[in-house]
Amino acid sequence: MSDDVRKQIYGKAMEWITGFLLHEISSPIGLVRLASRRELGDRWDESETKRHLESVTRVFEAIELLKNAAGVPRPQEFDLSALVDELLDEYKPEVREWISTIGARPFLIKSDPSLVRMVVVNGIRNAIEAQQGASAQPNPHDVTISWGDTDVDYWFAVVDHGGGINGPIETAFEIGNSTKKDHIGFGLAIARQAVETMIGSLSLEPAKDGGALYTARWRK
Ligand SMILES: Nc1ncnc2c1ncn2[C@@H]1O[C@H](COP(=O)(O)OP(=O)(O)OP(=O)(O)O)[C@@H](O)[C@H]1O
Ligand SMILES: [Mg+2]
Repeated sequence: MSDDVRKQIYGKAMEWITGFLLHEISSPIGLVRLASRRELGDRWDESETKRHLESVTRVFEAIELLKNAAGVPRPQEFDLSALVDELLDEYKPEVREWISTIGARPFLIKSDPSLVRMVVVNGIRNAIEAQQGASAQPNPHDVTISWGDTDVDYWFAVVDHGGGINGPIETAFEIGNSTKKDHIGFGLAIARQAVETMIGSLSLEPAKDGGALYTARWRK
């Protein structure tokens, strides 16, 4: 079996199992929430029950993203450079200072915009978090985002100068693995699923001078 066929089957299984979980478990969780609110009354806002239910909700939202990442792609033409700018606009100027971009503007591609967004968002987020987690004060160009294409595929990459990858790289891609406090560890799994749905691959590797390099490629 070719690698691409294996990935397509994996994607189908992912779509099925995530859809099943959402369908079967979201309504009981909604009911638990309603009942807890009613039963705890004034104590609800400060309760551990509320806090734990919020983390269950975050996991559910991520499962929903995984399901969407495995859905049938709907390609349309859009500007990848504008998407990067839009996502960077969400960060404060102090953060923007040490992020640079290299790539054609505009850069029109024909791909599913929501799948590409999952790939771009998670690459940028992880690089910025790694940079912020490293002790040294960030310098200009510490995070570099680049994009382009070849005859057959599009590519998107982010390199950072953060603390680098701890432990086996494949572990980082597993659903629910995180080395960060208050993170659920779904980002790379969602991004990899999205890129594989577009027939492509996602890698994370140590960068030349410390930090990490995140690279996605998918078929034109
Ligand atoms: N750029 C990076 N530099 C160093 N480590 C990284 C980088 N990107 C990912 N990792 C490692 O891979 C782990 C998994 O990443 P992933 O994006 O899946 O989850 P997360 O960022 O921990 O949580 P979430 O994305 O759900 O907020 C991270 O916890 C981190 O240990
Ligand atoms: Mg992440």
